[in-house]
Amino acid sequence: MDIEGEKSVLPTEEVYHPDMNLYKRAYDDSFKNMEAFWSFNAEILTWYKKWDRVLDDTKKPFYRWFVGGKLNMSYNCVDRHIEQHRRNKAAYIWVGEKGDEKIVTYDGLFRRINNLAKALINLGIKKGDRIVLYMPMIIEAPVAMLAAARIGAVFSFVFAGFGAGALAERINDSKAVLLITADGSFRNGKVVELKKIADEALEMTSTIRNVIVVKHAGNNVDMNEDRDIWYHEVVGDSYTYVEPVQMDANDPLFILYTSGTTGKPKGAVHSTGGYGVWVANTLKWAFNPDEDDRWWCAADIGWITGHSYIVFAPLILGLTSIMYEGSITYPEPDRVWEIIEKYRINILYTSPTAIRMLMKFGDKYPKRHDLSTLKVLGTVGEPINPSAWRWYYETIGNSKCPIIDTYWQTETGGFMIAPQRALGLPPLKPGSATFPLPGVDPAILNDRGEEVKDNEKGYIVFRRPWPGMLMTVNNDDERYVKTYFSKFYGYYFCGDYAIKDSDGYYWLLGRADEVLNVAGHRLGTIEVEDALVSTGLAVEAAAFGKPDPIKGEVIVAFIVPKQIQADRRELISEIRKRIRSDLGPIYVPDEIHIVKLLPKTRSGKIMRRVVKAVALDQIPGDLTTLEDSSSVDEIRSAIEAFR
Ligand code: WT7
Repeated sequence: MDIEGEKSVLPTEEVYHPDMNLYKRAYDDSFKNMEAFWSFNAEILTWYKKWDRVLDDTKKPFYRWFVGGKLNMSYNCVDRHIEQHRRNKAAYIWVGEKGDEKIVTYDGLFRRINNLAKALINLGIKKGDRIVLYMPMIIEAPVAMLAAARIGAVFSFVFAGFGAGALAERINDSKAVLLITADGSFRNGKVVELKKIADEALEMTSTIRNVIVVKHAGNNVDMNEDRDIWYHEVVGDSYTYVEPVQMDANDPLFILYTSGTTGKPKGAVHSTGGYGVWVANTLKWAFNPDEDDRWWCAADIGWITGHSYIVFAPLILGLTSIMYEGSITYPEPDRVWEIIEKYRINILYTSPTAIRMLMKFGDKYPKRHDLSTLKVLGTVGEPINPSAWRWYYETIGNSKCPIIDTYWQTETGGFMIAPQRALGLPPLKPGSATFPLPGVDPAILNDRGEEVKDNEKGYIVFRRPWPGMLMTVNNDDERYVKTYFSKFYGYYFCGDYAIKDSDGYYWLLGRADEVLNVAGHRLGTIEVEDALVSTGLAVEAAAFGKPDPIKGEVIVAFIVPKQIQADRRELISEIRKRIRSDLGPIYVPDEIHIVKLLPKTRSGKIMRRVVKAVALDQIPGDLTTLEDSSSVDEIRSAIEAFR
C-alpha cells in the first residue's frame, strides 16, 4: 500500500536486514516453542522463584502468565543494578521547565525508594492496599510507584492534567487508602495547583486516610492536620532498607484507568511478572538501546506510555532516561531540540501530535541545534500521517534514524506492532507500524468475524494472549470479558480499524468505536457528554471528534441548554470552565454549539451519528428513524452561524 504516494524508506543503519531472518525466527519461535521462548525471555527479570507454568489458559480469557513465579519490581528496577556495575549510573536526568536539572543515580533512586517505602509502612500501608498517585513529572513520581511496588501496594496513577471529578472517580473505584500528590506543578510558566484540586476531589471520596504532599512548586496549600503530611517530613533523608516483598507473578502491580465506550473509565489491572517481562523485552526488541544511550520518552508518567517506557522498561534494562517536566514549547518552540542538544540524547520517543505541532513552527527551530546524537526516533498514540513522518525522518533524524512507530494500548501493557531494531528492521513505510512483535498474533476481521483480504479495512484483533495483557478490569470481570472478548468470541478486540497490505505491513487507521483520540489522548464520547450534562447547564448533549490537522481530532459538542439564555458566549465559557475543573483541560470541547433540540430516534436515543455527519457536511445516512427532522436543520444552522 502507498498512501500519499509515499515510497518506502530503507533505514541506513547497519541493523537493516533485507530478509528479516532474525525477526522471522523469533516470531515463529514465539508460537511454535511458546514455553521455551518465554522461559528464555523472562530471564530479563531476576526472580526469587521461577514459574511452574509459562501460561495458564484454563480460565480464558483470564490468562495467567509465569504462574508460581515470585519477584519484586522494585528489586528488578534498582536493587539488582546497584549490586552490579550501575550503582553510580544515572537512572534519570530530570529537567524542569525553568531549566533546572537533577541527576539521580541508581543508588540515589534506591535510597529514595527505600525511604518512602519505610514511610508507607509507618503509615500502615500493607500488601494489596491501593494508593493513588496524582503527581507531576518529578522524581518523586517514579519513586512513589516503586516504593509501592516494593511493599506490594497497588498504585493507580492519575494524570496530573485530570480535574477533581476524574480524580475522585478513580479514588472511589480503586478504594485507595492513601494519596500522594504535590503542592503544584509547572506548565507554560504557570503553576497548576494540584493539592487544591486534590482537596476538592477528597470531598467526593471517603476511603483516603492520609495525603502525602511533595513540596515542589512552592505555592500555598491548605494542610489538613489530621490527614495531610509533607513528603519531606514523613520521608526524611536518611538511609533505610526495606526488604522487597516477594510478589506473585500475578499479583497486580498497578491499575490504570482508560476511557471506553461508556461513561465510566475502566481500570486496567496489570500484573507484576507478565507485564515486566513484556515491557522490558518490547523496549529492547523495538529500540535496542545501548548501555550508554540516553533515552527520552517524552510522554507523561500518568499515561501508560510513561508507566511502561519512562519507569519500568528503562529501569529494568538499567538505562539512563531523560525526564522533563513542563511544556515542550516553553519558553520557546525549540525546547525539545535544545534538550536533545544539551543532553546529547540518542533516542527520542514522542507522539504524532507533538511532531505536527513542532513541525508547524518551522525548520528554523530544529536547525538552531545540533541533533547529531540522535540515532533512533519513535512515535506512539495515534496514526502518523506520512508528511509528519517524513519531516521527523528528514529534518529531525537527518535521514539516518529509523522511525519506530509503535502501536499499542493501555491494556496491552507494551508495544504490539512496531519495527524491531534488535531483530532486523524492514524497509519502513511512512505511516505503517510494520510488523507484530513476537507473541503477537493479529488478524483483521469484518463484521461477520471473517478475515478480510489484503489491503481491505477491518477490525484488528489479537488471537492469542501475550504476557503484557491486562488481567482484568478493576472490580469488573464481566466488563473485561464483554469489552475485549465478546465482539469476536475469544479474540482480544482492540477497538481500532486496520489494514494489512500485500507485503504484510500493518496500517493502523484509528478507532472503530465511540472513543476519541485528541492529541494522542484517549477520551470517551459519552464521558464528554456526561460531563456536559453534569455541569447542570445543559439538559442534553452530543459530542464527537472532528478531524484536526495538528491534534488528530478535536471535540465538538452540541448541547440543549437548561435555560434559554441571552448571552450564549457566557454560557459556553461557564460550561468550559466547569468541564475543565471536573475532568480536566483535555476534555474541554473546541466547539460548543447551542441548539433547541438534538436529533433523536422515536425511542428517545440521541443520534450522535447524524449530528456528526450533518456538522461535518457528510451524508447523514438513514434518517427514517428520526423523531423530528427539524433537529437536523437546527444542527445545520448552528454550524452555519459558527462559520
Ligand atoms: C489507542 C490506545 C499506547 C500508548 C498511548 C495511547 C491509538 C496508539 C498508535 C499508533 C495508530 C495508535 C489506537 C489505540 N494508537 N498507538 N502507533 N498508530 N494508532 O494509549 O490511551 O490506551 O490509546 O491509541 O487507537 O487503540 P491509549
